Amino acid sequence: MEKINVCTAQHGYEVLIGHGLLKEAGRLSGDGAGKKAAIVTDSKVGPLYAEPLDTALRDAGWATCLFVFRQGERSKNMNTLGRLLEFLAANRLTRTDTVFALGGGVTGDLAGFAASVYLRGIPCVQLPTTLLAAIDSSIGGKTAVNLRAGKNLAGTFWQPERVICDCDTFRTLGADTLADGLAEAVKYAVIRDRELYDILMRGDFLADAERCVARCAAIKADIVSRDERDSGERLLLNFGHTAGHAIEKASGFSIPHGRAVAIGMAVAARAADRLGLSAGNCADPLVEALEKYGLPHKSPYDAETMARIALTDKKRSGANIRLALPRTIGESFLYELPVENLAAFFRAGEG
Ligand SMILES: NC(=O)c1ccc[n+]([C@@H]2O[C@H](COP(=O)([O-])OP(=O)(O)OC[C@H]3O[C@@H](n4cnc5c(N)ncnc54)[C@H](O)[C@@H]3O)[C@@H](O)[C@H]2O)c1
Repeated sequence: MEKINVCTAQHGYEVLIGHGLLKEAGRLSGDGAGKKAAIVTDSKVGPLYAEPLDTALRDAGWATCLFVFRQGERSKNMNTLGRLLEFLAANRLTRTDTVFALGGGVTGDLAGFAASVYLRGIPCVQLPTTLLAAIDSSIGGKTAVNLRAGKNLAGTFWQPERVICDCDTFRTLGADTLADGLAEAVKYAVIRDRELYDILMRGDFLADAERCVARCAAIKADIVSRDERDSGERLLLNFGHTAGHAIEKASGFSIPHGRAVAIGMAVAARAADRLGLSAGNCADPLVEALEKYGLPHKSPYDAETMARIALTDKKRSGANIRLALPRTIGESFLYELPVENLAAFFRAGEG
């Protein structure tokens, strides 16, 4: 088992990564005698993994209850949040009880949000079952639901008590969900970790999941520990996301997030190389990694379309847009680009 420490102002915690950890979750969560555990999961993950978690928690003394919501991003809304809060109240959870978020990023964001506002905050344990949740969303304490006006517009910062990642759960992931996680793993390698890049290229992420997840989780933990509130360094995690989000939106979400980010990273890296912003050749090794993991790197949309959509993003403000760009493989920086130059930047990044 791998252990990563996350240090935040709220509190420090461990990310535990290994095989067969769901069955160990009771032991890893401490003595549950006299305490309640609310397991929150979705309709796909629940039938697969709720039972072993429930048994493990009961064996450690926890009294358990189970909340299942319909799988998918569309459930990440105020309605499901409201139902979940009522569920916690109906089951009389108190401040000494714990929410266990079992699933992907949707479950983690939703359950984390509920834990952060129920009784003004109760403990939450994250048990990520997608690659993306394991290496990204379960670490760092960002919780959210979507509003009609846009994605993740309501949320809190609420750090989990611990993160328990059982790599065995990745075996049942669908191809698109896997691709979402693999694109994020390539992103970590490019922005921060040349050695991870070499590991990804020499070996295979899934065959070596424990080690690869731990390396990615360590990068996320390090960045979050230094920029808990998303004001500086944490923005490096947005590498590929400016064009990526635009591509996702332009396709009406038929191009899934991970594949869109993969293309977005390639666009940004090519532009950085061609405009002399990187130290040299970042795009070729990035594209090699994307190809190895079956991810795309050419945008089906032209630069003007991507820029127009990117600039309608509600989270953007001011005359400049901040882009995360690679300097070399393993090192990245934030670059301020005047918004009127975004289309030209994307044009320079065409494949
Ligand atoms: N909080 C953060 O810092 C942060 C960071 C990145 C993304 N996110 C959020 O994460 C969400 C995306 O996460 P996601 O891709 O994990 O989505 P998800 O939770 O919807 O999971 C994707 C699909 O995989 C299924 N699934 C999950 N685990 C499975 C398993 N082991 N076997 C089979 N099927 C499984 C789910 O039921 C769902 O259908 C988005 O809402 C995004 O906004 C949050």
